[in-house]
Amino acid sequence: MKKVTELTDLRGKFVLLRSSLNIPLDNGMVRNKFRLQRALPTMRYLSERGAKVIIISHIGRERTETLQPVYEELTKHLPVDWGGRVDSINFAERRKLLAEGDILLAENLRQDEREENNDFGFVGLLAGLGEIYVNDAFAEAHREHASTFGVAKILPAYAGLTLLEEVTELSKALHPKHPALFLLGGAKFETKIPLAEKYLNLYEHVFIGGALANDIFKARGLEVGKSLVSDISLKDSPILNNEKLLLPIDVIVDGPHGKLIKETNQVSSEERIMDCGPKTIDMLASYIEEASAVLWNGPFGAYEEGYVKSTEQTARHIATAKAFSVVGGGDTVAAIEKLNLNDSFGFVSIGGGSTLTFLERGSTSVIDLL
Ligand code: 3PG
Repeated sequence: MKKVTELTDLRGKFVLLRSSLNIPLDNGMVRNKFRLQRALPTMRYLSERGAKVIIISHIGRERTETLQPVYEELTKHLPVDWGGRVDSINFAERRKLLAEGDILLAENLRQDEREENNDFGFVGLLAGLGEIYVNDAFAEAHREHASTFGVAKILPAYAGLTLLEEVTELSKALHPKHPALFLLGGAKFETKIPLAEKYLNLYEHVFIGGALANDIFKARGLEVGKSLVSDISLKDSPILNNEKLLLPIDVIVDGPHGKLIKETNQVSSEERIMDCGPKTIDMLASYIEEASAVLWNGPFGAYEEGYVKSTEQTARHIATAKAFSVVGGGDTVAAIEKLNLNDSFGFVSIGGGSTLTFLERGSTSVIDLL
């Protein structure tokens, strides 16, 4: 990869910086500052070297969403100017006024559907804003959009400090110290089969929890009641009988009799599996204790519905273990943040889907362009 640190003369140059500012908001306020904090080093690096920095990013999935709240938060850390939409006259005027070291933030690129379509005209518009392109947006490194993919084919493209750090640290998980333990939670097995297969080869143990475990229980003929399951069947998958596979040994269910702890073969057709049970948490704790490397992605319970116990307990266990730990994924990172355990982990990734893609393939199409 070409690194931003290889750029020797940035003074007075227009640098188009793609950052990951897709930050969770609550009532129009920044809820979680993790991505914002990780975006700052490259912004500062470029500004301190006299570049005229134009920051582009997206936020959310609705066309109406705005980066204004993120802008308000950013101004507490850096002198930044608000540019508005990249195709506005206001933006063009503010860009013209930039002096060495100044920073201009553009409005949510996804307000324009051409961003996600990697539209040729929109790529041209973005490329026209800078002389150099720096991609620091690891969280979107799996999206072939105009600002992440198209523009990197036109402007001289470099990796930002945070993107580089993500690649370096996540690569450690691809070549772990042994014994290595992979903890995979969340839902949608259809998107995680290659990942599970890869780490069943690479690591000593793979624990599959969360809704993913329901798919395995179901494929093994166990009753999963009204639990969340994926669209695919694992009936003929080699994953099912892999000796390295670890599964929950007890679960918390919710049903006609309220919340109960049950063995995995005692779930009734009226119940829903909501979380791992206490025996599973203890079992995991002993594997974590033995491991030299732990890689973790995805919560083990219905985290957003308040079933946080197994995820939080596991976060505490990893935080105090000797293993080098790498963790990614929105809910998993949110749990770690909530418990203030960020500094007790080897590395906390800003990515969700991009982290999974990187762990599966060792790169992404966007990173390949840098
Ligand atoms: C993320 O939050 O995972 C990234 O910002 C990508 O967002 P997207 O899934 O809406 O493309």
